[in-house]
Amino acid sequence: MPTPARIHVAHALHEVFGEGGRVPDIWDRDLGEDAQLAQALLGLCLRRWGRLQAWVKPKLKDPDRGVPLGTRVTLAMGLAQLAWLPGVSDHAAVNESVDLSADRDLGFPPHKGLVNALLRRAAKNRADLADELDALPPALDRGPAAERALKAALAPHHAEGEIEALWARLQQPPRPDFRLLKGEAPEGLVPVAELPGCLCLVDGAPFPRPWLESAGGLVQDRSSQALLAYTWTRPVVRILDACAAPGGKTTTLALRHPGAVITALEVNPRRAARLRQTLQQRGIEARVIQADAAEWLEGNEATFDLILLDAPCSGSGTLQKHPEWPWLKHDDLPRLTGLQRRLLTAATERLDPGGLLIYAVCSWLPEECGSHREWLGQARPDLRPAGVWPASLGTASDAEGDSTAFFRPHPLRWEGEGFQAFAMVRT
Ligand SMILES: C[S@@+](CC[C@H](N)C(=O)[O-])C[C@H]1O[C@@H](n2cnc3c(N)ncnc32)[C@H](O)[C@@H]1O
Repeated sequence: MPTPARIHVAHALHEVFGEGGRVPDIWDRDLGEDAQLAQALLGLCLRRWGRLQAWVKPKLKDPDRGVPLGTRVTLAMGLAQLAWLPGVSDHAAVNESVDLSADRDLGFPPHKGLVNALLRRAAKNRADLADELDALPPALDRGPAAERALKAALAPHHAEGEIEALWARLQQPPRPDFRLLKGEAPEGLVPVAELPGCLCLVDGAPFPRPWLESAGGLVQDRSSQALLAYTWTRPVVRILDACAAPGGKTTTLALRHPGAVITALEVNPRRAARLRQTLQQRGIEARVIQADAAEWLEGNEATFDLILLDAPCSGSGTLQKHPEWPWLKHDDLPRLTGLQRRLLTAATERLDPGGLLIYAVCSWLPEECGSHREWLGQARPDLRPAGVWPASLGTASDAEGDSTAFFRPHPLRWEGEGFQAFAMVRT
């Protein structure tokens, strides 16, 4: 009988490779101590999927014949354990994968013998397996969507080797960053030099759950923190956070502009409820409204002197945190860019003269940020670029104009998530 950890991993792999779905944030919630093994194994299978499949293919009787997903999943799981998880015995790596392959939902029972034979052979050669897999081209693991995201991240030019260097960086398991909200930082968290208030976890330190639960701080990637470290000296009295859940940026905005009245919109009811709850726990006052931001803005007279539009996006900049990203369907981009424009149109209509708009996405793709900026630059002469970020963060070329009005930290010189943003002021 396979362990719950391996069953969870097999389910998650079926979700990604069978349905093109994401791995839910709480996929390993019930696993207790086994969660660590499950996380490591799932991460390895997702990050090395292409190479694991390429290793298997020439060993099949008929390499050109399609292999059922259940067989691909169980072989990948067995091989990943043998190659990269030295704490797992040969017996556990092989037998549990063979058992999984006999499961009608998670494996493909007619291939039980094949899975058994291939994994036993790999176990005999276990010392060499990781080298054999690592010698295969890393590009096998990324597919066209990730290839495009990497090029966009390094645009407009990349030097030889930079794509591979960036891909290698994104394959490292992510290290969470935190934001100090009150009091002292707990043990195990150290300041990030270039960003006041930003903390990162020391290697091997326990995840600071009690500190987070006491609202002493929050998990917030350093790119989000740098984005909100904008310089803006005009008075800010009415803030709109147009796409607010789960509320990390609402919290930071409230602390940056004490006394300002904040309206936080969120379309998803579950996420809006969570937003309300987290803001309350942190003692942040904001008017949370569950609504489509464009519809709400169109039906309202309210105006704002600071609008943050942290828009729904492809998430291409979150590749490191979401190793399944390269394997998602990616057929949603036209809908997303249309929605982003709709939200931008509605938000800019409600910006007061002299007010600041910050539009942001956790994506490197140009059509989710740079194209919108160009379009607004032409369509809205009343909006001017606002230089609010330090030039040292940006990678903007001359063609992109004032780099301090365009936020795009260089992905090889900056450890945070891939983020793009622009800032505009209404004249
Ligand atoms: C990138 S996340 C925002 C993250 C948030 N600003 C933070 O820092 O915690 C985008 C959010 O926009 C919400 N959203 C998507 N479409 C929306 C719409 N039409 N109106 C309002 N919110 C929307 C999504 O449900 C999601 O919670």
